[in-house]
Amino acid sequence: MNFSKQVVWITGASSGIGEALAREFARNGARLVLSGRNTAELARVGAACAPAETLVLPLDLGDAPSFPGKVAEVLARYGRIDILVNNGGISQRSLALETALDVDRRLMEINYFGTVALTKAVVPTMISQGRGRVVVVSSLVGKFGTPYRSAYAASKHALHGFFDSLRTELEATGVGVSILCPGFVRTGISVNALTGDGTPLRTMDEATAKGLPPAVFARRAVRAIAQGRNEVYIGGRETWGVLLKRFAPGLFAKFVGRAKVR
Ligand SMILES: NC(=O)c1ccc[n+]([C@@H]2O[C@H](COP(=O)([O-])OP(=O)(O)OC[C@H]3O[C@@H](n4cnc5c(N)ncnc54)[C@H](OP(=O)(O)O)[C@@H]3O)[C@@H](O)[C@H]2O)c1
Repeated sequence: MNFSKQVVWITGASSGIGEALAREFARNGARLVLSGRNTAELARVGAACAPAETLVLPLDLGDAPSFPGKVAEVLARYGRIDILVNNGGISQRSLALETALDVDRRLMEINYFGTVALTKAVVPTMISQGRGRVVVVSSLVGKFGTPYRSAYAASKHALHGFFDSLRTELEATGVGVSILCPGFVRTGISVNALTGDGTPLRTMDEATAKGLPPAVFARRAVRAIAQGRNEVYIGGRETWGVLLKRFAPGLFAKFVGRAKVR
C-alpha cells in the first residue's frame, strides 16, 4: 500500500478508530488533516504520526456553515484532497421509548447531516482533480438494528442510502465511495454514547472492551480503502449478522431480539 503524499482528511481523529486510521495512513506515507473538536487530543495524535506531515484542523460536525472555510484551509496548505474519511460520530445506549426526541435529532445531526455536509463541501474539489475517495465509517448497525441503538442505527442506515446513491452519481468522475462497517472495536464509543436524556453513558461496554484493537481495525480498513472496496464489514463473529439478516431474516430477528447486547 502506498499513499505517498496523498492528502487524507480524517474526522474524529482525536481518539479511537480515527486516531488508529491516522497512524496507519501516516505509516503508509500520507499527509494528514486531523479534525474533531478536541484540539489538544488532535495535536497529540499529530505528534504521534510524525514524521508524517499533519494539519490539525478543529471542526465540529454540528457546524456545517464552517465547512467551506475548513476546505479552503486544507487547500491553502496542501492544494488538494485525495481521501476524506468521515469517521467522527457518537453512539447511543437507551431504549427507543426512553430516548428524548432531541437525542434522536442530535445523533442524526452529527452522524448523518454533519457527514453529508462535509462531503458536499469536499467532493467538488475531488471532481475537479479527476480523482478522490470518500470513506464513510458506518457500523454493522448501519445494516441491522439492535437493542439500545435505535437513533444510532437510524443515523447509520441513512448514511448507506445517501452514499450508495452518491457513488452511482460519481461513477464517471474518478471519485469513489467506500463504506466501512465496524463490528466491536475497543474504543471509547460507549463511554461517549448518549443515554435517553442526552447525557453520556460514561462506562465501557463489555462487548466493546472485548472488541478488535483499533490498530488491527485500521490495518484492515486502510487495505480495503486501497483496494477501492465499496462496502466492507470489519470485526469478529458479529459480522456474520449481515449475512444472517440477508439470508435468514426470521431467524435473525429472533436472535437479535434476545441478544440485548448493550
Ligand atoms: N468502536 C466501535 O465499536 C464502533 C463500531 C461501529 C462503528 N463505530 C464508528 O466509528 C467511528 C469512530 O468511533 P470510535 O469508536 O473511535 O469512538 P470514539 O473514540 O468515541 O471517537 C469518536 C470521534 O468522533 C468525534 N466526534 C464526536 N462528536 C463530534 C462532533 N460533534 N464534531 C466532530 N467530531 C466529533 C470525537 O472527537 P472530538 O470529541 O474531538 O470531537 C472522536 O474523535 C464512529 O462513527 C462510530 O459510530 C465504532
